[in-house]
Amino acid sequence: SRAIKIAPSILSADFANFGAECQAIGAQGADWVHVDVMDGHFVPNITFGPATCAAIRPHIKGVMDVHLMIAPVDAYLEAFAKAGADVISVHLEAGAHMHRSLQTIRALGVKAGICINPATGIESVEYLLDQIDLINVMTVNPGFGGQKFIMSQLEKVRRLRALIGERPIHIEIDGGVTIETAPLVAAAGADVLVAGSAVFSGGSVANPAPYGENIRAI
Ligand code: DX5
Ligand code: ZN
Repeated sequence: SRAIKIAPSILSADFANFGAECQAIGAQGADWVHVDVMDGHFVPNITFGPATCAAIRPHIKGVMDVHLMIAPVDAYLEAFAKAGADVISVHLEAGAHMHRSLQTIRALGVKAGICINPATGIESVEYLLDQIDLINVMTVNPGFGGQKFIMSQLEKVRRLRALIGERPIHIEIDGGVTIETAPLVAAAGADVLVAGSAVFSGGSVANPAPYGENIRAI
């Protein structure tokens, strides 16, 4: 069986205290920190950019997993690599030349991820399997935390696991992961679970213990 990693998303963290929040989830058992970058163009929300990633990097002891919900992407890849991203995921839907964008990410010495929205089928990543280290399956429509898990994506995860076979590619699940849906996606073949609202609910920088309880529950 596959070891499951939890990647709390700071989209649901205290926006006035990102450094302290990253330290808190690291101390409470988070393996990765998922950083949701949004540009208000590819998705209907705006969060933060490379400067925030660089600022929180020293406060993250594990993997900084940067999820770019931006379009176009190529102009910003170097800035996120310089900011210290360990993984950079780009959306297949963000442009016409995503194979090239993935090559650029790897050329920058960063692990490359492709992210697919709920409407996008897995045949769309068939010719990317030798270019990626991770596939992020969106189980909500990107832009916001706290949304409901889209159940139709479970079958997609199962098919993806079969397609990937023995290749060293992570299947990351992003959106609506809770104590109810986590076992479903793990059984379907996922190994990295993003969770924002489910991890940060009930806690704060001053009282981070619930973060650990939430992470262990998932
Ligand atoms: C949504 C982001 C997700 C989101 C997950 O566009 O990509 O990472 O923060 O939040 P929850 O876990 O609350 O659904
Ligand atoms: Zn995300």
